[in-house]
Amino acid sequence: MTTELVVALDYNERTKAELLIEQLEGLPVIYKVGLELFMTAGASWVQALTASGQRVFLDLKFHDIPNTVSQAVVQAAKTGAEFLTLHLSGGKRMLDEVDIRLQEAMIAQEIMERPRVLGVSVLTSFHEEDWIANVSHMAKVTGVRTISDSVFHFASLAHDHPGVQGMVCSPKEVEMIRIKYPHLYLMVPGIRPEGSPSHDQSRVTTPAEAKNLGASAIVVGRPITQSANPRQTVEMILGDLA
Ligand code: C5P
Repeated sequence: MTTELVVALDYNERTKAELLIEQLEGLPVIYKVGLELFMTAGASWVQALTASGQRVFLDLKFHDIPNTVSQAVVQAAKTGAEFLTLHLSGGKRMLDEVDIRLQEAMIAQEIMERPRVLGVSVLTSFHEEDWIANVSHMAKVTGVRTISDSVFHFASLAHDHPGVQGMVCSPKEVEMIRIKYPHLYLMVPGIRPEGSPSHDQSRVTTPAEAKNLGASAIVVGRPITQSANPRQTVEMILGDLA
């Protein structure tokens, strides 16, 4: 299985992102645009990026009522982004509406290509106590309690839904999800090349380990954006994934 490299453009100014993209010209990577860059650069900048031939993962983690999320997903798809994210805790009805609206938008030719929808399960910033204390109302309904129970609950929701093609998952979860669901696209952050500082990531995995655990793509930010030679760092990671 091939494992793709996603470079997280975690910048507060688009010019900084543009400089990195220029430095990486010609390398086979996908650029992740998250909330921070999106809020400053905007949808038209993302659209210009895809029009210039770059592959984009628009990571805005939508979470709202089904109507709002499904309309936002169609607007996100108009940027030409190949991947986008939403919270699986929005539920099956939200996923149903997203699927229907994307189909309608394809038929009406509002969008030319259908993006791959990736689900976010439990944010990795949650600790077990927080999760149980704050989500216990859900636990009562579903019988799901721990973070890992919840992640598997969401993985089955993602797998069973035709409108969802994959999930964002931590290095800790990827192997178990891959074993159970061989066809989900698994996007894995928390990656550090050998010898890189882990920053605030609590559990990190090397690119080669993530590939062996079954990652479809790895997401790497600071080891590239803070590198003295980003191009060399990216080439090294691509070598590890080859
Ligand atoms: O700099 P670093 O490689 O830690 O960046 C990882 C990227 O992946 C960031 O954009 C971060 O928001 C994102 N991410 C993450 N952990 C998650 C989900 C997303 O680190 N569970």
